[in-house]
Amino acid sequence: MPIVRTIGPAVASSAVAALATVEPDGPVRSTVGDAARTSRVGIPERGPHGEGREGNVALENTDQHEHEGLRLSKFHAPEIVFGPDSLREAAFAAVRLGARRPFVVTDPGVFEAGWPHELLRDLRDAGLNPRLWTDVTPNPKDHEIEAGYHEYIASGCDVVMGLGGGSVIDAAKGVALLASNGGRILDYEGIDRIANPIPPLIMMPSTSGTGADVSQFCIVTDTERHTKITIMGRALVPDVSVIDPRLLVTMPEWLNAATGLDALTHGIEAFVSLAHGPLTDVHALQAVSLVNSNLAHTMTAPGDTAARQAMAHAALEAGLAFTNAILGATHAMSHQVGGMLDLPHGVINGVLLPHVVRFNGAVTPERFVPIAQAMGLCGPGVPGDEAVDMVAAAVRKLGDEVGVPTGLGALGVTEEDIPRLAVLTLGDACLTTNPRPASVDQVETLFRAAL
Ligand SMILES: NC(=O)c1ccc[n+]([C@@H]2O[C@H](COP(=O)([O-])OP(=O)(O)OC[C@H]3O[C@@H](n4cnc5c(N)ncnc54)[C@H](O)[C@@H]3O)[C@@H](O)[C@H]2O)c1
Ligand SMILES: [Fe+2]
Repeated sequence: MPIVRTIGPAVASSAVAALATVEPDGPVRSTVGDAARTSRVGIPERGPHGEGREGNVALENTDQHEHEGLRLSKFHAPEIVFGPDSLREAAFAAVRLGARRPFVVTDPGVFEAGWPHELLRDLRDAGLNPRLWTDVTPNPKDHEIEAGYHEYIASGCDVVMGLGGGSVIDAAKGVALLASNGGRILDYEGIDRIANPIPPLIMMPSTSGTGADVSQFCIVTDTERHTKITIMGRALVPDVSVIDPRLLVTMPEWLNAATGLDALTHGIEAFVSLAHGPLTDVHALQAVSLVNSNLAHTMTAPGDTAARQAMAHAALEAGLAFTNAILGATHAMSHQVGGMLDLPHGVINGVLLPHVVRFNGAVTPERFVPIAQAMGLCGPGVPGDEAVDMVAAAVRKLGDEVGVPTGLGALGVTEEDIPRLAVLTLGDACLTTNPRPASVDQVETLFRAAL
């Protein structure tokens, strides 16, 4: 019999912990109680507060109802250094954190693009003795992270630095986690299972989407079960995130499209999440607005630095929103497809998102009104069901503009895969905060609609 522990809001280091029951010996189960769900379903519709700075963000007013129903919430974030040429700040941050031998994680694609050379030069100029480790592949694998951990220990390193996309950042987090906790990386699946403090983390994202550089998530491919597992915990929030939009210009076009749609998915899922709140909503809507206004432009004008900076900003806002409000069914489903077929995470999200918007919109239509406003699709008075349709159609249109396929079939998913993918989805931590409970049959139906 597994010991069942319920984490209460007062001790939770993450919003989702307040909504989940964790079995220490098993995967995180989607066991959100009725009370938790009904407290968020039917949130009163609120009028717009004003216009955003860089888009038409509908900043909501927090009214009496919201405060009455407000749970204890925590907002965690790293120190953030943002702007062109900020990469050179990473070496100063390493010195400040006490590094002597920083362990620099990157991958062959980012290495080829040249960015690690700048970082290594700066680290050496600062008197440090960095160790470079590049053996990470997209959708980082359990055994790669364990190999990195052995390398970290063998080389006597002290601070972990990740320079790359979400895969590199997650691998760097995994190495740091194992460095002070030992064992196998898959043992940490679930919420708050990291007992010992981990080495300082400095992250430098080279894609504009995952938000892994500010998040409390680490996503790892379980190579035996062919799925992706989620490790979650306050300990995984990096100490410093250094966001230099220059790094985005070497992204191939497909990666720019994929990561931009990932950021859009983070914004939308965080805004409708059961764990959303006034502290996260503003970031979620700002992310939606920025992606909507800038992603397509970065595809047609890749050298436009203002649009790249806006996308880096979008990814950051989306990351701040979802690391605190958590995600939903799109990510729960996407992790299963990504683990099975080793496909780009953001592309899978882009295909699934319109279907999940319609599914969730059936129970929380009013949450989609501010999203539709942030996308410039309507004013404040539009009925919720119309906003749901507008958002779903606009997400699909953006997917078409940036070249994302319309169905999972084009990515290699078959009808025969669906039952297994649906069962695995129900065990994913991200489903816990989806605003609409989903049965295995409903998840199968969603996968079929997206095929
Ligand atoms: N931890 C989190 O909070 C979180 C959130 C969302 C997604 N993720 C994970 O992130 C991963 C996806 O990350 P991603 O979409 O950023 O891509 P990625 O890190 O998987 O990179 C994809 C490819 O692009 C190359 N690349 C990256 N940046 C480049 C650049 N600037 N120039 C040239 N090439 C570059 C890489 O070398 C790699 O080959 C998935 O595993 C996903 O599950 C994690
Ligand atoms: Fe994501």
